[in-house]
Amino acid sequence: MQAKIALLPGDGIGPEVIESAAEVLKVIAQRYGHTLSLSQSLVGAAALRVGEPPLPVATLEACLAADAILLGAVGDPEFNAGPREQRPETALLDLRQALGVYANLRPAKVWPGLEDGGSLKPERLVGLDVLIVRELTGGIYYGKPRGRTDDGTVAFDTMRYSQSEIERIATVAFESARGRNQLVTSVDKANVLESSRLWREVVTEVGTRYPDVRLEHQLVDSCAMLLVSHPDKFDVILAGNLFGDILSDEAGAVVGSLGLLPSASVGGSGGLFEPVHGSAPDIAGQDKANPIAAIASAAMLLRHALDAEEEATRIEVAIGSVLDDGLRTEDLAMEGQEILGCRAMTQAIIGRLE
Ligand code: NAD
Ligand code: IPM
Ligand code: MN
Repeated sequence: MQAKIALLPGDGIGPEVIESAAEVLKVIAQRYGHTLSLSQSLVGAAALRVGEPPLPVATLEACLAADAILLGAVGDPEFNAGPREQRPETALLDLRQALGVYANLRPAKVWPGLEDGGSLKPERLVGLDVLIVRELTGGIYYGKPRGRTDDGTVAFDTMRYSQSEIERIATVAFESARGRNQLVTSVDKANVLESSRLWREVVTEVGTRYPDVRLEHQLVDSCAMLLVSHPDKFDVILAGNLFGDILSDEAGAVVGSLGLLPSASVGGSGGLFEPVHGSAPDIAGQDKANPIAAIASAAMLLRHALDAEEEATRIEVAIGSVLDDGLRTEDLAMEGQEILGCRAMTQAIIGRLE
């Protein structure tokens, strides 16, 4: 197989975890006789620092020309106060929109060996294996009008969903549930929001086409509560852009660390693969980041963009094996456990790819 992969390391711990994931990809490519050409482009604060916009034209072109994109993270406190066009996060929003990747798949499960590593009692975690299907190119992230009144004293965003946007993401959720435990929990705030009422209507209609899949509706506030009280009750969680963003970080804490969660954004051209976590400025540049989310995102890239299921599984087995043996980065370590840095954890995972 030959494929072009655009690497966008970005900011904070992004470059560290992308270096890890790229190394894993190279080892896998060599083992399986694939030719992966990996290119690197600037994005986020890394681009702003050299006088480019957060998503430089050359970066977008490299992404559009690639078979898949692997992104680290964007975001830097130095640019927090800037206008929208000068914020690192804008790059990600624009890239997702340009690629049309409306379906963001965020799996979260309890890895063997980490049963007592999450924020919950181990018995609560038994059987926890969820897939959050988050709508990624619509909702309040993109809805217009958005802005401030002339005197700057009032600010507004618009949560907007069309029937067709809801229908296509619901279809992804039901299709995903067919290959899993046949349950979709659709998340909304239909007791308050108009957009949620349409969301619920359309999801219910799509559900009638999947009589083999059970559909439950859950208000987002109680869903957040259930995710920490009965996380094993979920299979596929279907959510809009904002609710899916929030619930996925919560899922990270439940399974042990945000540093474990990968994601795949699909549905449009190619595919964008990135850890769920951000640039983690508090630990950037210290070799403390957990590379697993990025490495598992590379596995999702192999599976979803390159149809390389065996290779993807091999990476996931290697991750499972190091965790089961008690190897821990700082975010996962319990008192008294030895702590591995980002690089040492990466080498340990590569060692299990044999
Ligand atoms: P964050 O996800 O960067 O960090 C939250 C906490 O989790 C921090 O304590 C951090 O140290 C820890 N953490 C995150 N990833 C980790 C990893 N791999 N290993 C170990 N610990 C890890 O969220 P934040 O602090 O709210 O945001 C920081 C910046 O990142 C902001 O600018 C935000 O906009 C941006 N962000 C970007 C993305 C993305 O690029 N996809 C996602 C989320 C946040
Ligand atoms: C994520 C991030 C992004 C989002 C930000 C950085 C734009 O939090 O990928 O989860 O909200 O989608
Ligand atoms: Mn997020």
